[in-house]
Amino acid sequence: MTKTAHKPAMQHEDDAITLLTEDHKKVKKLFAEFAKLAKDEGSDKAKAAVVQQICMALNIHAQAEEELFYPAVRDAIKDDDLMNEADVEHAGAKNLIAQLEAMAPEHDHYVATVIVLGEMIDHHVNEEEQKMFPKAKKAKVDIAALGAALSQRMHELQAERGEAEKPVKARKALSR
Ligand SMILES: [Fe+2]
Repeated sequence: MTKTAHKPAMQHEDDAITLLTEDHKKVKKLFAEFAKLAKDEGSDKAKAAVVQQICMALNIHAQAEEELFYPAVRDAIKDDDLMNEADVEHAGAKNLIAQLEAMAPEHDHYVATVIVLGEMIDHHVNEEEQKMFPKAKKAKVDIAALGAALSQRMHELQAERGEAEKPVKARKALSR
C-alpha cells in the first residue's frame, strides 16, 4: 500500500449515534440484498456471500456496542429494563448468527433463518434508534468520545476477523 492510500490523520469522526445508525443502514441494505436473491432464486453461493457479510457486520457491531456503548449508556440513562432488553435481543441475534454460520445455504431453513434474523434486527434497531439513542442524548452521554472509541474498536475487530477468514495458505504466506 502506498502512503497516499492512508486516510488523513485529521479525518472527521462521527459521533457514536451517527456511526451506529449508519451501520444499521448498511446491514439493512444487506438484508434487502439477501431478500432479493432469495426471491429471484439467486445461487447458493451468492446467498452465502451476502450472509457472510451480514454475520461479520452484526458480530462486529454487537461486540463493539457491548464493550463500549452499552456500559456507558446503561450508566447514564438509568433504565436497566431497556438495556436488559437490548442485551437479550443481542443474545437472540447471536444465537441465530451462530446457527447461520454453521448452516449450508442448501439447508431447507437457511432462507427462513436469515429472514427471521433480519426481523429481529429490525426490531432491535428500532428500539435503539427510537428509545435508547434519544435517552442517551438526553442523559448527555459523551457520544463524540464514544464515536471515536467505537470506530477504532470496529476497525480492530474488522482486521482481526478479516485475518481469521483468509484461507490458511494465504495467512501463512502473509506471516512470512
Ligand atoms: Fe444493538
